[in-house]
Amino acid sequence: MSQRYEPIIKGFPQMLHGGDYNPDQWLDRLDVIDQDFRLAKLSGVNTWSVGIFSWAALEPEEGRFEFGWLDRIMDRMAADGMKAVLATPSGAKPNWMATKYPEIRRVQPMGNREHQAGRHNHCFTSPVYREKVTIMNTRLAERYRGHAALGVWHLSNEYSGDCHCDLCKRTFRAWLKAKYGTLDRLNKSWWTAFWAHTYTDWDQVDWIDGCVHGLVLDWQRFVSDQTVDFIRCESAPLRRLTPDVPITTNLMGTFLGLDYRRLAAELDVVSWDNYPAYHDRADMPATGAFISFVHDLNRGLKGGRPFMMMESSPSAVNWMPLNKLLRPGIHRLKSLQAVAHGSDSVQYFQWRKGRGSTEKFHGAVVDHVGHEHTRVFGDVAEVGRSLGKLGDVVGTTVPAEVAIIYDWENRWLLNAVQGPPKQHGVCQLHEDWVQRHYRAFWKQGVPVDVVASTDDLSRYKLVVAPMLYMLQPGVADRLTAFVRIGGTLVGSFLTGIADENDLVFEGGWPGPLRPVFGVWAEEIDYLYADETNHMVMTPGADELGAEYGVSAACDLIHAEGARVLATYGADFYAGRPALTVNAFGKGQAYYMAAFADQEFLDDFHGAEIARLGIRRVLEAELPDGVTAQVRTDGKTDYVFVMNFSSQARVVDIGPGCQDVVEGRAVGPRLDVSGYGVVVVQRPCRG
Ligand code: GLA
Ligand code: ZN
Repeated sequence: MSQRYEPIIKGFPQMLHGGDYNPDQWLDRLDVIDQDFRLAKLSGVNTWSVGIFSWAALEPEEGRFEFGWLDRIMDRMAADGMKAVLATPSGAKPNWMATKYPEIRRVQPMGNREHQAGRHNHCFTSPVYREKVTIMNTRLAERYRGHAALGVWHLSNEYSGDCHCDLCKRTFRAWLKAKYGTLDRLNKSWWTAFWAHTYTDWDQVDWIDGCVHGLVLDWQRFVSDQTVDFIRCESAPLRRLTPDVPITTNLMGTFLGLDYRRLAAELDVVSWDNYPAYHDRADMPATGAFISFVHDLNRGLKGGRPFMMMESSPSAVNWMPLNKLLRPGIHRLKSLQAVAHGSDSVQYFQWRKGRGSTEKFHGAVVDHVGHEHTRVFGDVAEVGRSLGKLGDVVGTTVPAEVAIIYDWENRWLLNAVQGPPKQHGVCQLHEDWVQRHYRAFWKQGVPVDVVASTDDLSRYKLVVAPMLYMLQPGVADRLTAFVRIGGTLVGSFLTGIADENDLVFEGGWPGPLRPVFGVWAEEIDYLYADETNHMVMTPGADELGAEYGVSAACDLIHAEGARVLATYGADFYAGRPALTVNAFGKGQAYYMAAFADQEFLDDFHGAEIARLGIRRVLEAELPDGVTAQVRTDGKTDYVFVMNFSSQARVVDIGPGCQDVVEGRAVGPRLDVSGYGVVVVQRPCRG
């Protein structure tokens, strides 16, 4: 049931290859700009993201606009057949504006207004800033409407953060009033009788009190909604004047501060900035699997539509504790990995290194030396050559039969509540648990969709809900219905604990999912970092090993109709159930009571993949550190065989394959070099 989407830029069916370009840092250096156009051709770059931080160049003083420099860039890009990802410049406010209108500067939680510095720090409610944004975006859209180079609108940059000014607080209170209607409802939803926190006037909601979890959640929801409201303000003139030009904004992967699903609903295409620490270490495959997960997450934000990798570094970055060079091959691997998971672009931060300020040592296509004879430029040109051969992949998508649930609200709540272990305020256990499940599928070359608990799940064979602590309204019913019609659900400890206000379900965990799992989780034991337990398989669970290690969290459950597949091996709860399965309707629901080792998840999901007939991209077992991912239009499969280990590997790809980049028949045994990636096509397997 695959399909092919239209290219992101209408009439431009190429993989987009480019990056952030700041000609406004070089306006007195036309020789440099000439070089940039020459080098773009040499590197196979067909797009630049321009104007991202250009407010001071576009409006040097209030009401005086200077578009001449941008006209010249846009015209030359059009002449060279390039497309612009044209930004609105709100990511950094100019000094004149921040000085004249102090109210556009953010206020910190303690009430102090920020100085003008840095970027990404405007008050998202400020009417003045919104007015300035409206004027600027209108001017940009009027000027470049119909311009041959205009490809995509890039709203602002990496929206993030919040503001605690009086206006934002008042707006939050109005948001709460609209949501709850009465203070009585608010107090009940937030359980404010605790520690005398009852609110008797809306104005008392003044401080984001961390002990009231409903308040913490609502503030985070408000911040997302207010950012969406700001996005609507930014988009309005663009939508009015250039309705055919798609709008995106660059997201930041698993960034916690905003519910990206709310943002994605405002965008035509999702894009994200990808900065993995791919550094030739033993854990490269783990990082590889994690980045694959984030790509899948981004693809899922718009239901499987191709997305853009808006930024990545062609070399080192400048902000990690240690900024390591990418080893040979890794740049191409990282770039094609994005495409493998549904990106129709490979873009960089940054095209050219500036001479001053904080990003002058950040990796770039063009280094300070200024010419093309560098290792990094060669790597980029190589990616340009590969992307040039992948035009047929544009618009194809990923056919997944497995879904993993990953909700921002659930993450916010797990971080807010006290009880589960945390590191630096983050419930890392949840993030790790999600990754362990994901990695089991990645190792076996099984495509996965990363979805919201509120998404339609009916098309999947297997749904994994790792630590789904919060059940939003309707989710328990939907999961139950999924199993009833024949789906397989995998839940775990800390699933089904509380509702959308963090009010714990009465009547025992996993709350409304108790019938579908057929278990009651009575208590949960957390283990110190140096403690482990194990689970012992009961006879009959034959595809699995005899024993597996568990750590971190152990639920003490009672099987209430579920079949016990494993029991704990040690501690006072030895012999009690650690893994169960419940036949329910036409399907079944597994409950993993403990934080199990990777080895267990590999075996468990491997057995489920076989039992449920879930397609692997390649039939044969994959060597260590290798994954295979697929994009398809329903006729042709494009299989990306990616080696995240430094050692060469031989992969069995079966018969009938063609190397897309090299244009020759390959297989059934395929040699993949260390950090190598080979893209092969084959007829779709239907
Ligand atoms: C972010 C920003 C860019 C740049 C890069 C550096 O992704 O969007 O402007 O600062 O980081 O890695
Ligand atoms: Zn504010």
